[in-house]
Amino acid sequence: MKALAWHGKHDVRMDTVDDPGIVNPRDCIIKVTSTAICGSDLHLYDGYIPTMQAGDILGHEFMGEVVEVGAKSTLKKGQRVVVPFTIACGSCYHCGKHQYSACDNGLPADNQDIAQTLYGQPMSGLFGYSHMTGGYAGGQAEYVRVPFSDVGPIVIPDGIEDDKVLFLSDILPTGWQAAEYAEIEPGDTVAVWGCGPVGLFAVQSAFLMGAERVIAIDHFPHRLELAAKFGAETLNFEETAVYDALMTMTGGIGPDAVIDAVGLEAHGLFVDNIVDQIKASTFLGTDRTHAIRQAILACRKGGRVSMPAVYGGFVDKFPLGAFMEKGLTLKTGQTHVQHYLPGLLAAIMEGKIDTEFLISHRMPLTDAPKGYKMFKDQQNEVTKIVLKPGMASA
Ligand SMILES: NC(=O)c1ccc[n+]([C@@H]2O[C@H](COP(=O)([O-])OP(=O)(O)OC[C@H]3O[C@@H](n4cnc5c(N)ncnc54)[C@H](O)[C@@H]3O)[C@@H](O)[C@H]2O)c1
Ligand SMILES: [Zn+2]
Ligand SMILES: [Zn+2]
Repeated sequence: MKALAWHGKHDVRMDTVDDPGIVNPRDCIIKVTSTAICGSDLHLYDGYIPTMQAGDILGHEFMGEVVEVGAKSTLKKGQRVVVPFTIACGSCYHCGKHQYSACDNGLPADNQDIAQTLYGQPMSGLFGYSHMTGGYAGGQAEYVRVPFSDVGPIVIPDGIEDDKVLFLSDILPTGWQAAEYAEIEPGDTVAVWGCGPVGLFAVQSAFLMGAERVIAIDHFPHRLELAAKFGAETLNFEETAVYDALMTMTGGIGPDAVIDAVGLEAHGLFVDNIVDQIKASTFLGTDRTHAIRQAILACRKGGRVSMPAVYGGFVDKFPLGAFMEKGLTLKTGQTHVQHYLPGLLAAIMEGKIDTEFLISHRMPLTDAPKGYKMFKDQQNEVTKIVLKPGMASA
């Protein structure tokens, strides 16, 4: 089959590889019909995530048709499913608490040591996201093996197009969980850093959860326009001093909750960000944490910090003093996708959540290398690329 493989920094290629097969009885095989490129994939493309190996198949946002099932899969051939990016067993201590991304059994034994050393405990597996998260082949491919297929995938009723439900695999539940973690109370003002897919779904979710005002921050005009379409007030950090503006907009109090949907590749000519960039480029540091620093400083006293954004390593200049002195709380983590799927599928079907607004480009899977470059270089216009294995090349 054809699959998109990582070969190094800014080097992804369409490779011909063996078709996947059933390995465990709970597996199924999916024929991919739609798969998307994620902001998290850019962290791989830009070479920030350790334990990648040449030839690793990328992609963790995908859906398709079940074409093969193991003896213990509960799925049936021919069903259409969306697959969560987190690989979780459904029956361990953490899955029992619906904390699927903390599953104890998602990683093959060989891969547990790396996460154990870095993070203290192994995490759930992830599709197409380095050997630290299991080394699983991803879904930017014609076919993909789905472990624990009796737990993860959600069956999509007939008549609902792929483009409406594909984002259940990751960014919609991630934006939703981000808003839930912000513990929004009716009347709250919520500030969201980053108007990529995650930030834009967090904006929509925050309003649905009762926020009175949402203030969205980015520097790409088109992305800010999309946030404004959902009712957010917007700040362009290249034109406005964000902290000062937030204070003015909230009568000097600060937002009740802040959401960092930027992550380890923060942009902007800020002193701390320049220092982070120098450290990252000389291997003295890993993450560029400007957004979360600014969010913590801007948040009102006693407010909530939600951090869906991905960070990987150890950071410095973290405003721990401000965090403690202001009495903030922080909730973060990879999304417990499985927990949110039934409710969010219903919300899409009832028309409460708009998903298709986000798709700026649809292209054949074979154009994936071009898609990665576009997503990296033209972030203003390119909000989300959906790859279709069945689509003919233009
Ligand atoms: N927790 C999870 O399970 C999970 C799932 C999916 C994605 N993520 C992470 O969420 C983050 C966002 O994902 P995405 O797909 O929306 O990514 P994206 O790269 O498309 O969007 C990030 C946005 O942040 C903006 N930005 C950069 N610097 C900024 C700054 N200083 N202030 C304000 N905005 C700034 C960028 O212009 C961009 O529009 C990434 O770190 C991604 O890895 C986490
Ligand atoms: Zn993703
Ligand atoms: Zn588990």
